[in-house]
Amino acid sequence: MATVSIQNITKYYGDIRAVDGVNLDVKDKEFLTILGPSGCGKTTLLRLLAGLEAPTKGDILVDGISIIDIPTRERDVAMVFQSYSLYNHMTVYDNIAFPLKMRKLSAQDIESKVKAASELLELQDVLKRKPGKLSGGEQQRVALGRSIVREPKVFLMDEPLTFLDPKIRTQMRIEIKSLQRKLGVTTIYVTHDQVEAMTMSDRIGLLDKGILQQVGTPSEVYRKPTNTFVGSFLGSPAINFMNCSYLEKDGKVFLDADYVKIDVTYLKELIGKKNGSELILGVRPEEIAIVKEKSADSIEAEVFMTEPLGSEIIVILKIGENIVRAKVEPGTIIKIGDKVNLNINKKKIHIFNKSGEAIC
Ligand SMILES: Nc1ncnc2c1ncn2[C@@H]1O[C@H](COP(=O)(O)OP(=O)(O)O)[C@@H](O)[C@H]1O
Ligand SMILES: [Mg+2]
Repeated sequence: MATVSIQNITKYYGDIRAVDGVNLDVKDKEFLTILGPSGCGKTTLLRLLAGLEAPTKGDILVDGISIIDIPTRERDVAMVFQSYSLYNHMTVYDNIAFPLKMRKLSAQDIESKVKAASELLELQDVLKRKPGKLSGGEQQRVALGRSIVREPKVFLMDEPLTFLDPKIRTQMRIEIKSLQRKLGVTTIYVTHDQVEAMTMSDRIGLLDKGILQQVGTPSEVYRKPTNTFVGSFLGSPAINFMNCSYLEKDGKVFLDADYVKIDVTYLKELIGKKNGSELILGVRPEEIAIVKEKSADSIEAEVFMTEPLGSEIIVILKIGENIVRAKVEPGTIIKIGDKVNLNINKKKIHIFNKSGEAIC
């Protein structure tokens, strides 16, 4: 069993603040993903956990005990890197056995552990080969094998699927997730890929500019983003944002943008705002329906472009000068230039204040 408690971890490289005051508790056996854009501090955070960097400030506890002063090789963590960092002159067997040899295990123990790992990862047939003679997916499995034989308390994985082609990547997502469940090892996985994060994780922590923005289950962070960064990082195509202002008139409350006025009188979260307060309306593409009939609540738009994707059509629409994207059923008949009416699912809208923090 292993819990990981990251407490106010901060890392500066000179003036660069790579990781800033991160607090995060990872549960036993949990698959937690740190998701964020390139340069947001993901690798630095993992390197701090592995002991490859010393924090400027803060503490890391595994099972309640600080590991900050414990050197890397004595920490019970195994890191899998973006590049597989295999030893090219060694066979697959020797690559997987390497950490065990370093720990001076008996030949018999090494053999049984390598055998078990290679069976789990279906590498039995390539044990005598060198990494150069393997596919990308196989090389990544060898790297995984090398980390699991150590039976670590915690797996740290730094974008391990980056260099695989898309089809193999989809397959490896499932393999890594099922391996992690089978072994029940607490895992901190890092990626910039929202699909990996959404599909593999028990919880996701979103990181931006070194600061943890939100932690929650995939559905929580998708449905209830705490700010516009989280809202826009998850979802494809991205959520539509529209600048609007608060308008109270005749006992009703509206979100007022150019060409669009949405009645949100039912939203108690907006009570007490001043007329004219600037707000940001967020609407996911799947919450916009294209309808024939005009209604009091519908919005007039023009079809600017369509992107048929087989399973769905992305319709790019112009509402006045604003561009929004809607996701519609594949059978929908729609042509560029069509004048259409849009219905927004008001139960699923997101409203943020001007600085991007969610109001509801
Ligand atoms: N060894 C280093 N020296 C100086 N700056 C670094 C070093 N490593 C990372 N950085 C900087 O820290 C920030 C976070 O980097 P990194 O953790 O690699 O981000 P990510 O893995 O999310 O792409 C970046 O601005 C990066 O340039
Ligand atoms: Mg990185």
